[in-house]
Amino acid sequence: MAATLIDGKALAAKLKQNVLEEARALPRKPGLAVILVGDDPASRVYVTSKRKDCEECGFHSEEYALPAGTTQKQLLDLVAELNGRKDIDGILVQLPLPKGLDEREVLLAIDPAKDVDCFHPYNVGQLTIGTPVFQPCTPGGVMEMLREYDIDPAGKRCVVLGRSNIVGKPMALLLLHANGTVVMCHSKTPDMKELAASADILVSAVGKTGLVTADMVKEGAVVIDVAMNRNNAGKLCGDVCFEEAAAKASYITPVPGGVGPMTRAMLMKNTLTAAKLHVLYL
Ligand code: GUN
Repeated sequence: MAATLIDGKALAAKLKQNVLEEARALPRKPGLAVILVGDDPASRVYVTSKRKDCEECGFHSEEYALPAGTTQKQLLDLVAELNGRKDIDGILVQLPLPKGLDEREVLLAIDPAKDVDCFHPYNVGQLTIGTPVFQPCTPGGVMEMLREYDIDPAGKRCVVLGRSNIVGKPMALLLLHANGTVVMCHSKTPDMKELAASADILVSAVGKTGLVTADMVKEGAVVIDVAMNRNNAGKLCGDVCFEEAAAKASYITPVPGGVGPMTRAMLMKNTLTAAKLHVLYL
């Protein structure tokens, strides 16, 4: 079977266009503040693309590039200041933080109503019980892709590879809420290959180039590759051996151009949601 390519880039553009139109109807521009500590080059690239997304969606955006030596107190003070700003709807602290900074304490300090990453335990709790205000960006983007291509997880076996707080865990929850039968695999799962090969919908979020080989893909499966790795030649790639998986899958996401742009579009959607709530209630 030749798989249909799930075009994340095109869908993200469509989502951002909708966000722009809704943002224009608000009495003021939605505002997003992005905090980057240190000089991790990959994080720098992400932050730059977030600024571009904000421009495309008609948002106000502010970027705080802090030196690697920033103290916990300085970072918490900045978060507190942004929490108090009426023109800032979303606060995103780019992860990972440099060593020595306490990520957990920083995420807890963000006002849950401005937590557009959906990382605060309050929002994670809301997500867990099925009443989320914000969608976790990457898993939420995957769900949008499935919807766009009329792929309904209900009654399907969904296998998620990876159990991170950012992707694996919230991905499993969203698939579960969509009535999928969810199996989570991780580094201590002995029979990951067999479980993956049983999936109707396979989501890989491990970060290991070449992890998902053809024997792990059931004929007709939907294959979603969340990873952003660099191969030996420095080229961007996912976890999935694309060509061989595409030969068996019914649908597959490319890397780049798959989940990545959707994550960014979902951040814009969450910032719009936050702005709508703030305009109504503040
Ligand atoms: N680092 C990698 N992915 C993410 C993300 O979605 N949000 C934040 N804040 N940092 C990240």
